Amino acid sequence: MSEHLVLIGGFGFVGRNILEQLAVESSLGNLTPVVVDDLSNACPGHEALTLKKFIGPYQSEACLEFLDKLEGRRTLVFLAGETRVAESRERPLDFIAANISEPSSFIWRAIRPGDHFILISTAGALFDGSSEITTATPYCPKNFYGATKAAEEMILEKMVALRGGSFWTIRMTNVYGRFSDLKKSAIHAFTRAAIKGEIVTLNGDGKQTRDFIYAGDVGRGIIKLAAKAIAGESTQKINILGAASSISLMDVVSAVESAAGKPLRYEQIEAKELIATEPRDVIVSPDAIRGLLNDFVTPFQDGVRRTYEYYAAAPN
Ligand SMILES: NC(=O)c1ccc[n+]([C@@H]2O[C@H](COP(=O)([O-])OP(=O)(O)OC[C@H]3O[C@@H](n4cnc5c(N)ncnc54)[C@H](O)[C@@H]3O)[C@@H](O)[C@H]2O)c1
Repeated sequence: MSEHLVLIGGFGFVGRNILEQLAVESSLGNLTPVVVDDLSNACPGHEALTLKKFIGPYQSEACLEFLDKLEGRRTLVFLAGETRVAESRERPLDFIAANISEPSSFIWRAIRPGDHFILISTAGALFDGSSEITTATPYCPKNFYGATKAAEEMILEKMVALRGGSFWTIRMTNVYGRFSDLKKSAIHAFTRAAIKGEIVTLNGDGKQTRDFIYAGDVGRGIIKLAAKAIAGESTQKINILGAASSISLMDVVSAVESAAGKPLRYEQIEAKELIATEPRDVIVSPDAIRGLLNDFVTPFQDGVRRTYEYYAAAPN
């Protein structure tokens, strides 16, 4: 029997990559995707997709009624979080609402016994960059966004259990790739600027490092966990999707220049205040990423090239 894979926030960046991977992975024919999205940050082009969907806030009564009509056990992937890390300093209460209170209330009203709930969380922001990240590293967030994500993991896990469901977390490092049209993060902003010949701003000395994971790999990894959970196979409760390789901002500039075949125009600013709230380096242990990616991670330069091709092929 087909099982419903319900993507809450499924027309956003990560959701669209899950849908794309589902479409190419023929062995997953028993997973029927369903999307809930209010289109507040949806990647353009979702209109053309034919699938079962609810357009509107996941918090609404109408959404609860829609989900209730899906028969049998449901596997929900929760993607509808606040993602604009730098803004958590200016509007912390919005982040508490979006990452903690509203998803908790949703779980309380929507989850049925036996349901699966996969929370999509973050690897980088949960920690301060002082040590290599594993699935057992204790929480030590450096900014408010990271604190709300840590609290979200703990609270939602208990809420799902109170409702008789099963809970998993997937922590992602910095995701880059196709369907990132609304993203302002470095690889996407630099790629778009390279195509348009615009100048970009580079914060700090450019030597800070991050772990970048290609969005196609992320889509594949999330589906793998959902499929394993549905099949009743043993799975880790906390999972990391990352590349286990640390890349500096200057390496990003070089990769974009190589994909574009021309130099990137940029100006560098100190951005002291912002830099102080971010980990200097994000380093993920190779052991931590083994489970969901079958040891295959798209090489960084290949992923940047595919991202560049995605934007170069865009209509404007
Ligand atoms: N993109 C990254 O690099 C990254 C890295 C680590 C963790 N994450 C986490 O992954 C999750 C998904 O990230 P993303 O980059 O796909 O975000 P996104 O903003 O691109 O996608 C979220 C989607 O949810 C929808 N949405 C928002 N509020 C909603 C609501 N109330 N009801 C229904 N739909 C709603 C938006 O329209 C959007 O389509 C987030 O929780 C984020 O914190 C992302």
